[in-house]
Amino acid sequence: MKILLTGGLGYIGSHTAVELIKAGHEVIIVDNLSNSERSVKDKIERITQQEVIFYKADLRKEKAIRQIFEDNTVDAVIHFAGLKAVGESVSKPLEYYENNICGTINLLKVMKDYNVNNLVFSSSATVYGASNPMPLTEDCPTSATNPYGRTKLFIEEILKDYYNANKSMNIVILRYFNPVGAHDSGIIGENPKGIPNNLMPFVAKVACGKLDELHVFGNDYDTKDGTCIRDYIHICDLAEGHLAAVNKLNEKCGLKIYNLGTGTGYSVLDVVNTYNKVCENKVKYAFAPRREGDVKECYACPDKALQELGWQAKRNLYDMCLSSYTYEQNQAKRK
Ligand code: UD1
Repeated sequence: MKILLTGGLGYIGSHTAVELIKAGHEVIIVDNLSNSERSVKDKIERITQQEVIFYKADLRKEKAIRQIFEDNTVDAVIHFAGLKAVGESVSKPLEYYENNICGTINLLKVMKDYNVNNLVFSSSATVYGASNPMPLTEDCPTSATNPYGRTKLFIEEILKDYYNANKSMNIVILRYFNPVGAHDSGIIGENPKGIPNNLMPFVAKVACGKLDELHVFGNDYDTKDGTCIRDYIHICDLAEGHLAAVNKLNEKCGLKIYNLGTGTGYSVLDVVNTYNKVCENKVKYAFAPRREGDVKECYACPDKALQELGWQAKRNLYDMCLSSYTYEQNQAKRK
């Protein structure tokens, strides 16, 4: 298939591009480079030995998107593009609504005009809000606690309405848990601009001496070691989940929602201790107050994805930490 990846030079998009190409699909990438680098295109091509068509364009500009569909016969779209920093979304809500929601609406309009009926959407476990019992199943009630989460939730609702009015659409909504780690080649990985907000990229920078120490946000939660529990999933497992979702579209699936997680929760200290095994104890940490908005635990029930997509995560926490460290070391060598 010829698959358009919006935000395809980002962390999840780039790993998915590699996976799709490996499986024989043709990939077109559109990205506005707001949180990614043009060089990632070359890296994808280096890993796959295949050429990738790339457009620098913004989904808020409908005309630019139209041009991509004019130039290419697109069979399916995987829609990753969007702003994703929770804290920033609180201070810049309109930017989040405009980028994420208006961008999606433009994309849907153009897809309709060009008769493209297949869509995979990048959603997030954040749509489960804060009050559900664990593990989270796809039928748990949804809610949002910040503008970023609200954009994901609203887009899911928009897609449901849109599907009800256009039953020829095939839409797979993927709710990601906590994607971490990097491609085995060590060539692509997570490369946030500035100081990372998320745990794994922060730990990676401490391990490589670029940041002094990790602040563990809260050690007084009601968990086994007092720190929060999350469902960390290797980015390559997540990328393979997208391949399974694309295969599902081909079954004329209608609208489906799947969790992409491992089903296992690890604490912040589990992550730090495992990382310290791969980097010879370079991750120093100190306990700090809780971070506002954090929930005590969040992990998936991944059964539906196994039953209906035939997909399941294969890599463990050690693989996640090792690949993250290898990538971060490569980055450090380049600078
Ligand atoms: C965060 C977002 C979530 C988003 C996801 C993307 C928040 C509140 N949630 O999830 O909406 O979908 O990223 O991957 O931001 N931690 C530390 N020290 C740090 C950084 C994190 O102790 O410097 C802890 C956090 O308190 C949390 C865990 O590590 O318990 C994971 O944090 P993070 O990687 O930011 O992910 P989430 O908060 O789960």
